[in-house]
Amino acid sequence: MKTFYIETFGCQMNAHDSEKVVGTLVHEGYTQVVDEAEAGLILYNTCSIRDKAEQKVFHRLNEYKRMQGEGKKFAVIGCVAQQEGQKIFERAPYVSLVAGSASYRNLPDMLARLEAGETRITGLDDRETEETFDTDFTSRSNPHRGYITIIEGCDKFCAYCVVPYTRGKERSRTSASVLAEAQRIAGLGYTEIQLLGQNVNSYRDPSGKRSFAELMVAVGEINGIERVRFTTSHPRDFTKDIVDAIDATPTLCNHVHLPVQSGSTNVLRAMQREYTREWYLERIAWTHAAKRDISLTSDIIVGFPGETDQDFEDTITLLEAVKYDSIFGFKYSPRPNTPAIHMHDSISEEVKAERLAILNTRQREIQREHYARHLNQVDRVMVEGGRNSRGQVLGRSMQNKTVNFTCETTPTVGSYVDVKITQVFPSSLVGEAVSEAIAPSAALLAQQALNARVVVLS
Ligand code: SAH
Ligand code: SF4
Ligand code: F3S
Repeated sequence: MKTFYIETFGCQMNAHDSEKVVGTLVHEGYTQVVDEAEAGLILYNTCSIRDKAEQKVFHRLNEYKRMQGEGKKFAVIGCVAQQEGQKIFERAPYVSLVAGSASYRNLPDMLARLEAGETRITGLDDRETEETFDTDFTSRSNPHRGYITIIEGCDKFCAYCVVPYTRGKERSRTSASVLAEAQRIAGLGYTEIQLLGQNVNSYRDPSGKRSFAELMVAVGEINGIERVRFTTSHPRDFTKDIVDAIDATPTLCNHVHLPVQSGSTNVLRAMQREYTREWYLERIAWTHAAKRDISLTSDIIVGFPGETDQDFEDTITLLEAVKYDSIFGFKYSPRPNTPAIHMHDSISEEVKAERLAILNTRQREIQREHYARHLNQVDRVMVEGGRNSRGQVLGRSMQNKTVNFTCETTPTVGSYVDVKITQVFPSSLVGEAVSEAIAPSAALLAQQALNARVVVLS
């Protein structure tokens, strides 16, 4: 029997790539196992975004070394694989396959060569490809959410970021193929779909039929679909029709993740983000003026080379102007191949840490105030987990907020329940069920039972 074990790091696109890789392997006759000791093939799907990621990968590969005598084969895929390429064979000679995400459509061929005993198989030369990795065999391991990659790669080349080098050229799928996949996901019983892309709103339909906003609406109109999420949006390509579509289409989630990175126009220029603070705030004004309460979230980098106290202060005042519902704050880390690595990493580790702490403290205060708007609201919540130690069930609102709520019987994951919010915390809501649960379809329950036997994410 051909068995494999896969471990995945990184963003949602990487997690979903793993679902596609797993689906492809299963189609090629492999069985997924949850214990690496039982696997004939071990795949490691890597992320390279920050913090000397490649060192961590080599460290992990060293741990695999002890298993090489057991006849196992090893594959390193994803962003570190693309970045380090042949170097992986030099440092971990027991690895037989190294491939970046732009080459996954050649996986069946690479797997055949692996089975034939080849030991230096690479998929590293496809970053200029126009092709996307669409497969009918995607393994749907999330119990309540179906993912669709609508656009791959990135052409933005922000000064600090490895993604354009690891994932290659920006390329979109046709809207017809996205809609066909969305139909298939709805057919499996999923009611929630998340559209994925490094910059999902840079989507350009190769067939010229639909804009990004029109595509979202078309997905939201599919029979059975209750929630359409999309991530990540880039401010540069964020157009007002996206806000109008959210306002007009109740199935589109009223949440936009719109990473600003910095509130200072000077830093944004050095980062090559191609927008100014004012440009960004204009887009925020559109969402603030919307009829629906659109939740905003962001990513912020502190300590980019040359960031002054005033630049950092500009980021803090931007937080106050936008009132995000959550942010991911990161200390700048220099990454291989990026232009910023040649800039002097001028901000000390202490100052970076200090700025990050100030950022997070201020943001927590903002959330403490801003979440109060939900008190006494009735929110429709999708159940995403079982009961916690307090006996509350875990769910998520349309805005992607965590809602812990009490109810008599425990609803199945994927159910919807109306919840009255009785307490607010800086990053979660607490409430009580005020409706019966709407249970998921038999199709989704069957899909969940199938999933229960496999684990994709670590
Ligand atoms: N395409 C998305 C983000 C992709 S990476 C966008 O442009 O918004 C996810 C986040 O990681 C980024 O938003 C950024 O905040 C952070 N990040 C990327 N490179 C980084 C680096 N070198 N150091 C610190 N944070 C980084
Ligand atoms: Fe990286 Fe910038 Fe592309 Fe986002 S837009 S993936 S931060 S290069
Ligand atoms: Fe990491 Fe690659 Fe995603 S670097 S964040 S896995 S695009």
